[in-house]
Amino acid sequence: MSKTKIVVIGVGAVGATTAYTLLLRERADELVLIDANKDKAKGDAIDMNHGLPFVGKTKVWAGDYEDCRGASIIVITAGAAQRPGESRVDLLKRNSAIFDSIIGEVLKHNDDGILLIASNPVDIMSYFTWQKSQWPVRRIIGSGTLLDSARFRYLIGEELGIDPRSVHAHIIGEHGDSELPLWSLANVAGTGIRLDEEKKERIFANTKDAAYEIIAAKGATYYAVALALDRICTAILRDEGAVLNVSTLLRDYHGISDVYLGVPCVVDRGGVREVLQLDLSEREQRELRLSAEKLKELIRSMEG
Ligand code: 2OP
Repeated sequence: MSKTKIVVIGVGAVGATTAYTLLLRERADELVLIDANKDKAKGDAIDMNHGLPFVGKTKVWAGDYEDCRGASIIVITAGAAQRPGESRVDLLKRNSAIFDSIIGEVLKHNDDGILLIASNPVDIMSYFTWQKSQWPVRRIIGSGTLLDSARFRYLIGEELGIDPRSVHAHIIGEHGDSELPLWSLANVAGTGIRLDEEKKERIFANTKDAAYEIIAAKGATYYAVALALDRICTAILRDEGAVLNVSTLLRDYHGISDVYLGVPCVVDRGGVREVLQLDLSEREQRELRLSAEKLKELIRSMEG
């Protein structure tokens, strides 16, 4: 049986926590850590290996780009992180050059895996990666609004006293300030969410601003995003056909094309198999278009 290899590029807070989550959940036979700071990757690999008697199975090592060969999934978390008060798009200039060289290296050694992008601004980084790779869209996936949707479900669940796994609710659009909540489709067991407007506004504001709050408090976010990345890896490795709000290329989606945004997608072994068409209200359609326009403008500014 062929071995499952996952490569994590960038072992800052997000990458290291993601690798550790994948290790705890025994998602891969081989887990490779790559970082510009080789000592950090080496130290993390040794540290994780010392935990193997408690979990077993995974072989972990600090590698080089050649180790991308044969990987089923390459998770990219490398790049500068948000500073307190900084938005994700503020990272664009700082991250795009680093990112471009990383993708170039990965593409030299792998042409049939799935690239799972988590570096911010994630929708734009995913779009650039897709353009550069010329791979089929389905194999370049951004973590999108999966984390935002999880935050949204958690906060609605807290308000209603319901387990967040039983709350079905979506945040779509940019993983960032222009994202939008789909209240019109949010439900618990098919029953709409009955909350007054003020509570809804507060829940969405806390969802959208969660990263700012966490970064102000402790400098970075990493636990929930690591679980979101693990969720996407699992959907791929188990060929699940799970519906996840990941970032993918939109093609005539409510009139939007040629931009990566977070929308509900069916994810299986091949990556994004299908984008689900949502029945959006007029207001939601308008907000999604604004989110797309914002990102397209940023892409144009980088290309121009
Ligand atoms: C987050 O939303 C910073 O994008 C990261 O936690």
